[in-house]
Amino acid sequence: MTDWKKDIDLNKLPKHIAVIMDGNGRWAQQQGHLRIFGHENGVKSVREIAEGCAELGVEYLTLYAFSTENWNRPKDEVDALMSLLVTTLKGELETLNKNKIRLHAIGNLKSLPEKCHEELSETIEKTKTNSGLNLILALSYSSYWEITEAVKKIATDYKNNTIQLDEITSDLISKHLNTASFPNPELMIRTSGEHRLSNYLLWQLAYAEFYFTEVLWPDFRKNHLAEAIYDYQNRERRFGKTSEQIAAEQTQ
Ligand code: IPE
Ligand code: IPE
Ligand code: MG
Repeated sequence: MTDWKKDIDLNKLPKHIAVIMDGNGRWAQQQGHLRIFGHENGVKSVREIAEGCAELGVEYLTLYAFSTENWNRPKDEVDALMSLLVTTLKGELETLNKNKIRLHAIGNLKSLPEKCHEELSETIEKTKTNSGLNLILALSYSSYWEITEAVKKIATDYKNNTIQLDEITSDLISKHLNTASFPNPELMIRTSGEHRLSNYLLWQLAYAEFYFTEVLWPDFRKNHLAEAIYDYQNRERRFGKTSEQIAAEQTQ
């Protein structure tokens, strides 16, 4: 078997990759199955990609697993997704520890069913001393929710005189987001041919490179991850500067 990571420059890895795992429902329906069959098979891709990132030495991987808006799906599908989350967390603990993966979660976790919340907290607790990849699950997450919560906290601090107006900087705002302890993602991957952010990490992705693929999430494998990273490594990130300035900086 050829080495899936042979084209990747290990010295130019993104530190943080964010993924919108999309296309589970279509994957199942194309085969005449119920949508949940797609979600179940999506778990295999999560395992592959988390292992792939751990193997490469990527430090953070954030996966969009359930959005605030996803609560509006049919009750059957929401219930099935929540129980899938519980069984997956239970089933994957050993693999997480074996791969030194530390689990985190962002989003309105209190809105999850109690069983999910408990299982999640337990898995986070049981992996907290792992020193490898940080795997961050976005659950009941949306940027509108996250930014609204941050604004409320900052407004309260201002009202109580704990902070002054000129202390409200972009850094302070970042520190009030759920992602405060993680760097911003450099690369955002969305599967299934959809070209939108769907309320995902709007603030944190301000300067990320976007990679879109037609591959449906349950088909996404390490070689697809490698293609996305390879594509990212061949882009020029200018951060407002000119191409000439970037070239000059690189020869310094
Ligand atoms: C992504 O797959 C998983 C979740 C949103 C939970 P979808 O369920 O959105 O699949 P499609 O987009 O309908 O194919
Ligand atoms: C975004 O996917 C949320 C997750 C992947 C969890 P959706 O499939 O729900 O996004 P929209 O609603 O089609 O934009
Ligand atoms: Mg979708």
